[in-house]
Amino acid sequence: MRKLSPVKHISGTISMPGDKSIAHRAALLSILAREPISVRNFPSGADCQTSLGAARQLGVTVASGDDGETILTPPENLPSGSDTLVDCGNSGTTARLLSGIVAGSSTSAVLSGDESLSTRPMSRIVKPLADMGAELFDTEGHLPLTVRGKKLLPFEYRMPVASAQVKSAILLAGLASGCSVTIQEKIITRDHTELMIAALGGGISTRVIKPVVEDDPDDPRKKKRFMPEPFKKEITLASGASIAGGSIDIPGDISTAAFFFAAAAISGQTITVRRCGLNPTRTAFLDFLKQIGCAVEITEKELSGGEPCGTVIVTGGPLKSRKIAGDSTVGLIDEIPIIAVIAAFAKGTTVIRDAAELKVKESNRLEAIAHNLGLMGISCGLLEDGLAIEGGIDPSGADFKSFGDHRIAMAFSIASLFATGPSTIDDDSVVDISCPEFYNLLDNITG
Ligand code: S3P
Repeated sequence: MRKLSPVKHISGTISMPGDKSIAHRAALLSILAREPISVRNFPSGADCQTSLGAARQLGVTVASGDDGETILTPPENLPSGSDTLVDCGNSGTTARLLSGIVAGSSTSAVLSGDESLSTRPMSRIVKPLADMGAELFDTEGHLPLTVRGKKLLPFEYRMPVASAQVKSAILLAGLASGCSVTIQEKIITRDHTELMIAALGGGISTRVIKPVVEDDPDDPRKKKRFMPEPFKKEITLASGASIAGGSIDIPGDISTAAFFFAAAAISGQTITVRRCGLNPTRTAFLDFLKQIGCAVEITEKELSGGEPCGTVIVTGGPLKSRKIAGDSTVGLIDEIPIIAVIAAFAKGTTVIRDAAELKVKESNRLEAIAHNLGLMGISCGLLEDGLAIEGGIDPSGADFKSFGDHRIAMAFSIASLFATGPSTIDDDSVVDISCPEFYNLLDNITG
């Protein structure tokens, strides 16, 4: 349990652990590489260590380089014989991406997970992988999942659910098996898998569909805008695409930085995050901050392994509410818990829709948020696919529940700093999933 008290001032320049999504991909791609991958800023969070452990189990050698980098040396051959038992812990990304890799490879594994991961849906990957010819046996749509690798068939897939994990599982299955894959996204999701395959190997291309503008035949003064395809992006992995190896310097995790930027937003003060990941599929939170009244400045932009990053300076201001729905919700999927906390301190009603996916994250995040906001005296309506949060009153301190979910614990730790009285978080150790440094960083900006 952690006790947190309200603070008056926050300020500071901090760095985040390496981006969780990018680190998972570096660890898991090393299973398929031909040469070592050297990774700087590999995060120490439990989820990414789970992917590293899984890679080790499949034969990858993990060593430390002279400058603190993590060197991942691929195996000569993947394990043969009995199924490798891989405990994916709390990590949906490990379970789903690894399933794709094993499905298209020459090995086999049984993937299990903790209580939370064992309730999360796996049919979303099992179905398309089975359509590629993979041999998978799930447990009523959940883990444990047995995956027996085999040669897969070329595959074309229009994503029924906006999920980077599902997209990546299919791409990695194609990569492992050497077969071509084409994926069409109706809603664009994070593209770290595509960028890393391009940076370390090749044989992958993307086509972004642009709207077409034409004269309106009914009124020559007007223009008509339409999408020429029923999807927004097409990703093609060529048959025989492969990963060589190379080096990656992982930018700071923008989804973790979001908690500290929220502290700036709520307090009206300034937080600076150095070398923060700025992949355009992940920066919707910065746009959100601008739209609700914060100033966001970006300096020292650079590109690292195809991934943009830079220094981000956020200064809060009087906060307005804003509706979040449709494609915007997908771009903010991991930031909704902290957006809900910001909403409690903003004037007006914040409505969040198209967020049913949050029911199947590390916890049912819609229920967890509504529960904790209620404890602060904030009126929060639980909608079928979202939340309606009435902000603008002074939220009180409370004894918050983390629901075993790192992002819920971090979001309500930030809320505690600006509540009218002291608070507690029941299980603060859960932040170790993505950011074991979280409370030290909080001390840095409040001390
Ligand atoms: C992730 C994708 C998202 C996100 C998760 C990490 C990834 O999940 O919520 O934290 O690294 O691909 P979905 O792809 O299931 O939406």
